[in-house]
Amino acid sequence: MIEKIKNTASFINEKVAFEPEVGIILGTGLGGLVNHIEIAHSLPYNEIPNFPISTVEGHAGRLIFGTLGGKRVVAMQGRFHYYEGYAPEQVVFPVRVMKMLGIKTLFVSNASGGINSSFRVGDLMVITDHINLIPNVLIGTNCPELGPRFPDMSEPYSKALEALATEVAAENGIKLQYGCYVGTTGPTFETPKEYGYFKAIGGDAVGMSTTPEVIAARHMGLPVFGISIITNAAFSGQKSTHEEVQQEGAKAEKRMTSLIMGMLKRM
Ligand code: HPA
Repeated sequence: MIEKIKNTASFINEKVAFEPEVGIILGTGLGGLVNHIEIAHSLPYNEIPNFPISTVEGHAGRLIFGTLGGKRVVAMQGRFHYYEGYAPEQVVFPVRVMKMLGIKTLFVSNASGGINSSFRVGDLMVITDHINLIPNVLIGTNCPELGPRFPDMSEPYSKALEALATEVAAENGIKLQYGCYVGTTGPTFETPKEYGYFKAIGGDAVGMSTTPEVIAARHMGLPVFGISIITNAAFSGQKSTHEEVQQEGAKAEKRMTSLIMGMLKRM
């Protein structure tokens, strides 16, 4: 596996010669952040050796290299989900490659259903912790070059980056919520009792991504900032649809963009 990661990283290095400092995974409806990146290079996933190919509607697939908020970033436009049928190590493959390319921090964004009844549709939730209910991506032989067999998970999301987000949000008049993200396999949205169960175990929002990538990042010692757009009020008993998730994601884009750009400027 490590050889594949290294091969892919050297292919990219030869192609783009650009050392990114920050990696960004753009989730549902957040593709618009790309419009703010001063793009230096862009590589479609299907031209990158060993990369899986994204299948979900609304997720384009390319790796974008450029400058955002004064930092050299590599952004994944389109991510890989466990529910698409990828093996867990395929889901996190790009994160491992980005680390090999030199990133020092990982930003992840996603859309989620709000379980905390004080949340409103459209809120941005800083992910402060997670409960991973997707098979753990680190199951199997450990690769010590990537990280330890038993990685610490006491600070899955960086407290320093959370504090920075709070500062930037206050300055820009952006309201933030904070909470625990429950990562499920999907692709079904939850039954009413499942939403209730996730609330009972301490979840504030639920989604179908992110926890595998964060586990892989923490395994490699990368600090992570995670942010989630609450796209549906999961506790309301109303129907959840993919269209609603996309629409609310698009509406929150402006706030998300200023928050992330503001944070990058200060890092
Ligand atoms: N459940 C799971 N994933 C989601 C949801 C939800 O309610 N909303 C957006 N992604």
